Amino acid sequence: MNKIVVFASGSGSNFQAIIDAVNSGKIKAEISGLIAGKAGIKAIERANYAGIPVAILQPSEFSSVSDFTDTLLDQLRAWDPKLIVLAGYLQKIPAEIIHEYEGSIINIHPALLPAYGGKGFYGMAVHKAVLEAGETKSGCTIHLVTENYDEGPFLDRAEVDVLPDDTPETLAARILEQEHRLLPEVIAKIINPKNN
Ligand code: GRF
Repeated sequence: MNKIVVFASGSGSNFQAIIDAVNSGKIKAEISGLIAGKAGIKAIERANYAGIPVAILQPSEFSSVSDFTDTLLDQLRAWDPKLIVLAGYLQKIPAEIIHEYEGSIINIHPALLPAYGGKGFYGMAVHKAVLEAGETKSGCTIHLVTENYDEGPFLDRAEVDVLPDDTPETLAARILEQEHRLLPEVIAKIINPKNN
């Protein structure tokens, strides 16, 4: 069985969409673990409820970046993922990890990259910037992870209309619906290319 490892730092609603797609057989894989960016996040509750192992690895709690990287690498080697999914993960992925899993790490970003990506563009800051610029479209992008933030090749994107009375919160919610649809679809295509 192919294995997936998910990284999350917050609510984990995208992680939940992956769990649901695995449970329904849409994604033919096993989620071997969740890397949680910090303790106390809802994503951990979701993993516990689904019986998925969790490793809480908060970079600031390690004595050095290389210590963090070694621990993360050991955990990943133990969980042996075919695919790593960054689903709302806010920390930077160390270069060693990107090299070891080259081409096998994907990220979901809540905007139509290359616009509104890169350093500082995360969470509500993205949607606020989209609204302030008067955009009429936004959406989400799933891309391969490379060493530079939000710059890897695109795998898929979904568009939504920006409505005149949108707030960052209403726009985020409309985009999140698309994320929950698109992310499992893209994962299924990567994991089981012949069935899609
Ligand atoms: C999503 O909007 C995702 O695109 C971004 O972070 C958010 C995570 O939401 N990278 P959730 O934790 O999956 O609910």
